[in-house]
Amino acid sequence: MAILVTGGAGYIGSHTTIELLNAGYDVVMADNFYNSSPEVLNRLKIITGREIPFVKCDVCDEQQVENLFASHPEIDAVIHFAAYKAVGESVEKPLDYYQNNIGGALCVLQAMKRHGVKNFVFSSSATVYGEPERIPSDESCAANGATNPYGWTKVMQEQILTDLCKSDPEMNVAILRYFNPIGAHPSGLIGEDPNGVPNNLLPYVAQAAIGKHPSVRVYGTDYPTPDGTGVRDYIHVVDLARGHVAAVKKLAEKCGLVVYNLGTGVGYSVFQVIEAFEKACGKKLERNILPRRAGDIAENYANPTKAREELGWVAQYTIEDMCAHAWNWQSKNPNGYKE
Ligand code: UD1
Repeated sequence: MAILVTGGAGYIGSHTTIELLNAGYDVVMADNFYNSSPEVLNRLKIITGREIPFVKCDVCDEQQVENLFASHPEIDAVIHFAAYKAVGESVEKPLDYYQNNIGGALCVLQAMKRHGVKNFVFSSSATVYGEPERIPSDESCAANGATNPYGWTKVMQEQILTDLCKSDPEMNVAILRYFNPIGAHPSGLIGEDPNGVPNNLLPYVAQAAIGKHPSVRVYGTDYPTPDGTGVRDYIHVVDLARGHVAAVKKLAEKCGLVVYNLGTGVGYSVFQVIEAFEKACGKKLERNILPRRAGDIAENYANPTKAREELGWVAQYTIEDMCAHAWNWQSKNPNGYKE
């Protein structure tokens, strides 16, 4: 019995692989390194002391995916991370996003069907709530409000999985809606390594702290929030990874289709995050106040009650931990996985 982790060399996939191994599961990792580095495999070996089975595979390539399942008959469940994830890029290249994200998921699900694999965990996002119906958002909020093609690929995949579960009562699917994952493994050996200039707040702040940017961009100080900046539910990537382990355990109970928010339930503003990071790195960071970024909402944070009650999962790390671990990773690896 093993768990296939697609996108296993990515930011969330690599942290999840460690937590699965810690929990006693066997893992088969797959990745095509489109947006990740083979160096992750070396780092995982150092952290876990194990050689983790790895298959280089593009999840959109039917033959490669077939070969992957055929050569690893021990696969019993799939955690599907492999996808494109940049919001702005998805607006410019919608066809690429629909093809890769939906095409990849369909290819994996078809192979699972051929091989009788019935357990699937899906990497969804709080982005499906769009402008949230309620804050904190709970799983019963309307989840069809995406504001960009990336978000729509998540909404559409949730629909595909819903239809699949209706057609096959043996399927067990956990849809996990992530809030804002940040931080890094406490070892500082793996972390987030974005290509080019980061879009997301935390990697940008971390790069500013090592001197790659003269200041931190603050997109809007006129939101209806306590300090005027956007509020989000930042969650430590290790907590998020443990949420996947809890979801895999749930699938073993033959749960059918289940949906969970993975967040802390606490919102922090952009200014609060910058202050927490300043404490972690011991430096003052310049703030560059800019207009609002198109498509951003004022505030969103999770109601994480359902995951606590049904999965027994609660996020443990604080915003201070998240910033300290992100800084540990960034300062030890100023250029990420690149030499
Ligand atoms: C973004 C995506 C979301 C995706 C998530 C993945 C958008 C509109 N949404 O969420 O679909 O699932 O990333 O992690 O891009 N901010 C700054 N300066 C920056 C960057 C961000 O002030 O340099 C602010 C934003 O206005 C926002 C907060 O920081 O208030 C968080 O932004 P970000 O990290 O990009 O995440 P989201 O926009 O919440």
